Amino acid sequence: MTVGCSLLSVDLNKMKKLVFATHNVHKLEELRAIIKNFDIVGLTDINCHEEIVEDADTLDGNAKIKADFVTNNFHIDCFADDTGLEVDALDGAPGVYSARYAGEGCSYQDNVNKLLEALEGVENRRARFRTVIALNLNGEQHFFEGKVEGVITKEQHGEKGFGYDPIFLPDGFDQTFAEMSMEVKNEISHRGRATKKLIEFLIHNA
Ligand code: IMP
Repeated sequence: MTVGCSLLSVDLNKMKKLVFATHNVHKLEELRAIIKNFDIVGLTDINCHEEIVEDADTLDGNAKIKADFVTNNFHIDCFADDTGLEVDALDGAPGVYSARYAGEGCSYQDNVNKLLEALEGVENRRARFRTVIALNLNGEQHFFEGKVEGVITKEQHGEKGFGYDPIFLPDGFDQTFAEMSMEVKNEISHRGRATKKLIEFLIHNA
């Protein structure tokens, strides 16, 4: 049983609740592994079944749209994130359009195939994942950013993770994100780093 419905409401076993504005079970799972001292709740858990239209042309803009949608419609504090894979040789594409790079309704595999094709014969394979988190807390909005530099491999490696993980090799590692355990990926990933900043903020301000 939960007392109150704010971002940090306390339930009977004293675990604090945090609404993460996402339907993505992979992201929820990752965030739950990182934020151990909060009960992370997704959109489905608060009976929000709508697809929120993310039509901004920046990561900050999309994170804000999602966080504001939840706060305005459900009157609760929450946080939302948006991530893009920025490839130098493609002038930062797919960037904010990473989810639908291969077209509306495409699969993760379609996106991976399209990116590998776009980089065929290209020597400069430098890229980075960048995540922006927007937090709505007590009537104020705060932003946190995390990024990880690396290269796009020529072939896919690994079965874990999701999205572009099989073709992203982070600097300093000899495994793609899809070959790493979730714990190692979370330690160094864009979302892991942005989330650490969020947690740090919550510890001092919540
Ligand atoms: P979102 O904003 O977190 O939904 O991310 C947009 C898209 O970026 C996703 O649909 C994935 O294709 C890709 N993406 C985001 N995070 C990751 C990750 O950790 N690994 C691989 N791909 C990711």
